[in-house]
Amino acid sequence: MTDLQVALITGAARGIGRAIALELARPGLVIYLNDVVLGDDANLTQSQVEAKGAQAHLIEFNVADGAAVQAGIDRIVKESGRLDILVNNAGITRDNLIVRMKEAEWDAVLEVNLKGAFNCIRAATKPMLKQRWGRIINIASVVGVMGNPGQANYVASKAGLIGLTKTIARELASRHITVNAVAPGFIQTEMTESLPQNVKEAMLAQIPLSRFGTPEEVAHAVAFLASDAAAYLTGQVIHVNGGMLMV
Ligand code: NAI
Repeated sequence: MTDLQVALITGAARGIGRAIALELARPGLVIYLNDVVLGDDANLTQSQVEAKGAQAHLIEFNVADGAAVQAGIDRIVKESGRLDILVNNAGITRDNLIVRMKEAEWDAVLEVNLKGAFNCIRAATKPMLKQRWGRIINIASVVGVMGNPGQANYVASKAGLIGLTKTIARELASRHITVNAVAPGFIQTEMTESLPQNVKEAMLAQIPLSRFGTPEEVAHAVAFLASDAAAYLTGQVIHVNGGMLMV
């Protein structure tokens, strides 16, 4: 590993992705901030990351589009010569009870949350194998382990992401590429703001630490997994959930 490192964070315009970018940001790190549409949110993330001394580049692609992901990662390697850290954070919800869930809702969530991670991992693995070093961190969810009514598509995608994490971890370990997941519990972001009040209250009642988490608390776990201190962890799921699920 050289002193200069290059990171790609998907869905980094806001929320947990932005907090991860800010937590990783340091001089000597080049961070590519991806989102499906780049706008004011992404610009704000970029300026905040640069203020912490990292180089930040915006890179627009839809993680569900395999060709666009490959082109984006080719651009990163062409411009920066390497790719050390991949954080698969982009994710969406399309909640509905199973009897009402439309095929389009199922497909959209699986395409972004699970296939999106596959697309990014497949493309990022090539430069990482060449370097014989890499860190892949997938943002899963507590519900991927617990299940959650109304979220069959989302839960299936996050449970799938955990299985993907374990398999890729076994495939890549001999090349010093570690692959881990962080499974946040209920975190205060725009994704969760839209939930009905009664759902939020029911969630809160299940959390021993009696509060929702912050994006920064998820970002701390990601930064640890990306660091040399986590060199002996692979195929693991780190739960950041206030005690909501204890495994
Ligand atoms: P958010 O909705 O605030 O941010 C997600 C970002 O991903 C947005 O900027 C969005 O534009 C981007 N994105 C969506 N589809 C994309 C695509 N196809 N390609 C590229 N970018 C795309 O969500 P939040 O809360 O920050 O969530 C981030 C991750 O954390 C997601 O994977 C989510 O499932 C996971 N998570 C969130 C929890 C929470 O309580 N907020 C709990 C557990 C997991």
